[in-house]
Amino acid sequence: MSVIEKLSSAEAIALEARYGAQNYHPLPVVLSRGDGVYVWDVEGRKYYDFLSAYSAVNQGHCHPKIIEALKTQAETLTLTSRAFYNDQLGPYEKYMCEYFGFDKVLPMNTGAEAVETAMKLARKWGYEKKGIPSNKAKIIVCQNNFHGRTISIISASNDPIATENFGPFTPGITAIRYNDLNALREVMSSEVAAFLVEPIQGEAGVYVPDPEYLKEAKKICAEHNVLFIADEVQTGIARTGRLLASCGDCSCEDKNCSGVPEVKPDILILGKALSGGVFPVSAVLADDEIMEVIRPGNHGSTFGGNPLACAVAVAALEVVREEKLAERADKLGKIFREKMDQTLQETNLVKLVRGKGLLNAIVINDTEDSSTAWEICLALKENGLLAKPTHGNIIRFAPPLVMTDEQLEDCISIIRKTLFEYEAQM
Ligand SMILES: Cc1ncc(COP(=O)(O)O)c(C=O)c1O
Repeated sequence: MSVIEKLSSAEAIALEARYGAQNYHPLPVVLSRGDGVYVWDVEGRKYYDFLSAYSAVNQGHCHPKIIEALKTQAETLTLTSRAFYNDQLGPYEKYMCEYFGFDKVLPMNTGAEAVETAMKLARKWGYEKKGIPSNKAKIIVCQNNFHGRTISIISASNDPIATENFGPFTPGITAIRYNDLNALREVMSSEVAAFLVEPIQGEAGVYVPDPEYLKEAKKICAEHNVLFIADEVQTGIARTGRLLASCGDCSCEDKNCSGVPEVKPDILILGKALSGGVFPVSAVLADDEIMEVIRPGNHGSTFGGNPLACAVAVAALEVVREEKLAERADKLGKIFREKMDQTLQETNLVKLVRGKGLLNAIVINDTEDSSTAWEICLALKENGLLAKPTHGNIIRFAPPLVMTDEQLEDCISIIRKTLFEYEAQM
């Protein structure tokens, strides 16, 4: 018999409170099933998922094609480690390189691991190719970034909750203002190996930079022989209406295009939706001139590139193409922002709507340390829609990209109704 009993929501929450490290503050809803854009709690209540596990479930919950790939591979071979070859990794690597337009891929598991990998790769390239003196390499990051939770990644963070009492931090990281090209120009030097940037700052509250920012930043990096690293763990894989958000600057009409040279990152970091939220799969992509600095023993992970992950990721990426998810995100995102902009005219509660594709946020007319966004999310839950604040006054809206037009209309009605009800009882 399974040790997992059938529990009420209250019992499940109490168990986590008693036995789990308290490193999260979840909305009080206990989910036990998911299908497409819907999730159900243990009492059988149905909700629209408007977070998609922080953009991991772009393809929708339990997508049949991805689950089929998981089951088939799980019954065949799950893990060999990289001590031996396996028959899934090579074809997966070829598929990834062709899909995203790079020479090589380095497979990892979580987003944070992939960011760490990119930082190591950039440093090694900096010493061996750019000629940076030993131990002097610098990586430039942006203020208010979110790249994960490891020590070297939080060394790049200016969020006190993420950093307090976790020092000493990794040296060689300099933070500049986001969306500020002059700040980037000023910090360039012969010791800078890379510029690590989110094409849209998701956790910070869905900050979309100026239209030319990424293209110009890439140009500045190229002029100074500095690697342009795009962390597309959250923004990538169709979320923002393009296959990659870093090609959002170009005028190309092909939403599934993997980018044109002037905006194509030197190093691309992917995670989350690379598996459709089924399994932790992340990856770092780069061309040969960069990736060739990594030699046996320099880097790795027991689970990185495992056959199960490879099979799942190929299926997840096929779904993105077959179901034209970038186009869907682009179309639905425009409808969503238009309707939210209208809502803004009708209520004082919301002061701003921003985003790209189906990565959007509303900014509530209240202070950053207020609990208004949290309370609105509780009210949204009561009305059948799950979303989560990124800050006291910002709610991120990121549903699965498989949403239909009708479902989106329904969700917009729920959000509008909730905002009006909340404002009326203030
Ligand atoms: C931009 C970005 N990078 C990296 C990460 C870290 O990914 P993971 O939580 O899988 O380690 C996240 C997670 O939210 C993210 O949004």
